[in-house]
Amino acid sequence: MGQVTLEINGKSVQASQGITILQAAKSAGVEIPTLCDDGRLEPYGACRMCMVEIEKKGRTRLVASCLYPVEEGLSVQTESAKVTKIRKMLVELLWPAGQQYAKKYGVTRSRFATGMADCSLCGLCVRYCAEVKKSNALYFKGRGIDRKPALVDGPHATCSSCGECFSLCSGGWVVASRA
Ligand code: FES
Repeated sequence: MGQVTLEINGKSVQASQGITILQAAKSAGVEIPTLCDDGRLEPYGACRMCMVEIEKKGRTRLVASCLYPVEEGLSVQTESAKVTKIRKMLVELLWPAGQQYAKKYGVTRSRFATGMADCSLCGLCVRYCAEVKKSNALYFKGRGIDRKPALVDGPHATCSSCGECFSLCSGGWVVASRA
């Protein structure tokens, strides 16, 4: 596979063609916050916490680094003013999962927190169960603000109670919903 050269935070980085900006940054020692990324799973692009600012042919835009592939000559800023402004908002909106980045972005509380374990819709539990466990014991139920992961029950139930989805849930929703 070919190599491309891009710039991440002003530093020249070589990366294999086809990998994402997030993967290239990780290899270069640059940490980008994520909530729905897991190296064992297909990229999902749900949380937008990994948003970065890219510059290409003189034009800048915001992209999800877990989905966007590296390109020759791309310039990436992982903590630009625009990016950090959005991340601060996401930390609040995706509370309590986003709370792990609260200190980094100077957020002390969320205006949107319900005070209970809540689901950030990162999909890690549903995707892990399907992609790694091949079990499909979880699915997304409902639409809009009512959308939540749910356990398939009844005659089609396939949950083996392995409990592996618990540790993936940074918001604590899975644990609370199974209690
Ligand atoms: S980690 Fe990229 S959108 Fe969630």
